[in-house]
Amino acid sequence: MKLQNDLFLRAARGEQIERYPVWLMRQAGRILPEYRAVRAKLSGFKELVETPAFASEVTIQPVDLLGVDAAIIFSDILVVPEAMGLTYEMIEQKGPWFEKTIRTREQLSFIDRNIDVYDRLSYVMEAIRITKRDLAGRVPLIGFAGAPWTILCYMVEGKGSKTFSESRKMLYTQPDLAHELLQEITDVTISYLKAQIEAGADALQLFDSWAGILGDDQYEEFGVKYIRQITEAISTVPFTVFSKGAIGSLPVLAKLPCTTLGIDWNMSMDVARSLVHETKTLQGNLDPCVLYGSNELIELETRKLLKSFKSQRHIVNLGHGVYPDIDPEKVKVFINTVKSYEI
Ligand code: CP3
Repeated sequence: MKLQNDLFLRAARGEQIERYPVWLMRQAGRILPEYRAVRAKLSGFKELVETPAFASEVTIQPVDLLGVDAAIIFSDILVVPEAMGLTYEMIEQKGPWFEKTIRTREQLSFIDRNIDVYDRLSYVMEAIRITKRDLAGRVPLIGFAGAPWTILCYMVEGKGSKTFSESRKMLYTQPDLAHELLQEITDVTISYLKAQIEAGADALQLFDSWAGILGDDQYEEFGVKYIRQITEAISTVPFTVFSKGAIGSLPVLAKLPCTTLGIDWNMSMDVARSLVHETKTLQGNLDPCVLYGSNELIELETRKLLKSFKSQRHIVNLGHGVYPDIDPEKVKVFINTVKSYEI
């Protein structure tokens, strides 16, 4: 089906656009009362993720309610470690928790090898198919996965962490084990992302939320190496790599065969652009905390960002996911400021 609004895809490919496209990471989620209402009917977050009709409903909510230029499939990066054999619980107010973790070579046996993503993650592909049908071409649908390094962090730590020191420890004390695990995650992620494209995803994003906790050389060896394999394996749809906090690795990321790089708010777009050639699109990077400010402040800061762009190769977003207590009305001010800005 032909898309009625393909601004996001055109901006990603570097084609002509009439205005900058805008969407928000974590747009399908707790900021919307309508999301919380669907969530309240269910046993928890995982039931929402695993029930395609509900996942699809909350995926489309921000398109209807906020007017974003792209939808992102409602799921989580943690479905991949789960499909590999490490089940997780999402504990209210606390976050994810895995019963089994991988910190030794013996524990590598917790992982199921040669898994069939079509079988274990069929609910995600089904949610994508339903969402594509119900979006009826209004905006593109983004599929996603976690980058191997960030997924390893959860498999090793078993929960969130301020330092992820168990994971970083492994890179020094058992680098071979880390590489083996990263390769295993990479192979599954490639199959999974290909399956998402087959199911109808129009674009993909890789989230490397914990990229910024490694030194540059280490991130190249344990992070970028595997992202490169993924971007080399997938070339049929626009692809965004979001390596949060990996400022020093931007020149290396700029050489990946992807269309788009996500930028967080720590680096100005100006500086990011000086490190990334015009053959790539940049996505980002308003500080989510701007959305706690007045409408005037939001307009001012958003316009400042837009004015800093020197070309059309931009997709506007926040520098990270929107925080759950931000007022959706403030989000609308951000979106409408972008939509009314003349290139
Ligand atoms: O709108 C969207 O962006 C699509 C849905 C989406 C979710 N998680 C839903 C979710 C996406 C793209 C993610 C990615 C994700 N998940 C990342 C990478 C992005 C980032 O923020 O850095 C990470 C690190 C996770 C792992 C994860 N999921 C954690 C640590 C938590 C707990 C913390 C929190 O935000 O509550 C989650 C839970 C989660 N994933 C929620 C949502 C809407 C909240 C759970 C709820 O509704 O109760």
